[in-house]
Amino acid sequence: MGKLQTYFLIFAAVIASSTSNTNMFGGRCSQRDPNVDACLLRSFNNLLEYLKGGAPEFDIEESEPIVIDELSIALGGGPDGYRATFKDIQATGASNMTITNVRSDLESHQFQLTMFGPHISARARYRSSGVLLLVRASGGGDYWGEYDGVKAKVYFRGVPYDRDGRTYLKLQQLKLDFSVRDIQMGVENLHNSNAVLQAALNLFINSNAQELLKEMKPQLKQDLASKMSRFLERILQHIPYDEWIVD
Ligand SMILES: *[C@@H]1O[C@H](CO)[C@@H](O)[C@H](O)[C@H]1NC(C)=O
Repeated sequence: MGKLQTYFLIFAAVIASSTSNTNMFGGRCSQRDPNVDACLLRSFNNLLEYLKGGAPEFDIEESEPIVIDELSIALGGGPDGYRATFKDIQATGASNMTITNVRSDLESHQFQLTMFGPHISARARYRSSGVLLLVRASGGGDYWGEYDGVKAKVYFRGVPYDRDGRTYLKLQQLKLDFSVRDIQMGVENLHNSNAVLQAALNLFINSNAQELLKEMKPQLKQDLASKMSRFLERILQHIPYDEWIVD
């Protein structure tokens, strides 16, 4: 490549990076617009779409899969209570989530997003111990889960600060909660086990899917909230607040 072409490419890249912010939002939202939440809904969805495959300029990696190192659940107390630990959880489908509603309070920089994802799949390795349905359920294997109709609510609050003559938001608090309409899940490839135990476990797991999710939820919420906070912090650090909201 000739020198001139190289300069041209660098020049084009600089131009692109200085105009990209507004493009990826599809326009700014005005604080005075009575429908500012509808405008933010569009902007946030445009941004999510843009970030899906990763955005090195914001230190944001591709959003698939979401990896969770470890989660554990305990059902029933006592020495024989059932315990299961899930490791290397890989969840896919979160990039298909869209924001369906935004409620903002721009005075206090608070935002509540409702999100919906049609389908999320998870795979993990698991180990369990204790007794389940009168069956000694110690062992390990592979876990699979298919989650349909995933709804999440994310609340966050920021505080504005100035940097290099621009206004940015610093994340102060983030909370999230979620629910799943339909869950199918099971275990397979059990080691130190037999077909009877595997069938018993799968029957139990599927008939108690919502309860099991409820058991996992506190840890899951905490893990996802910290992942989402990191994601949001990077966005807020790189995109000035006055780039998406104007007077
Ligand atoms: C997102 O949805 C499309 C259309 O339903 C599907 O083909 C694709 O596999 C989904 N992506 C992931 C990562 O699940």
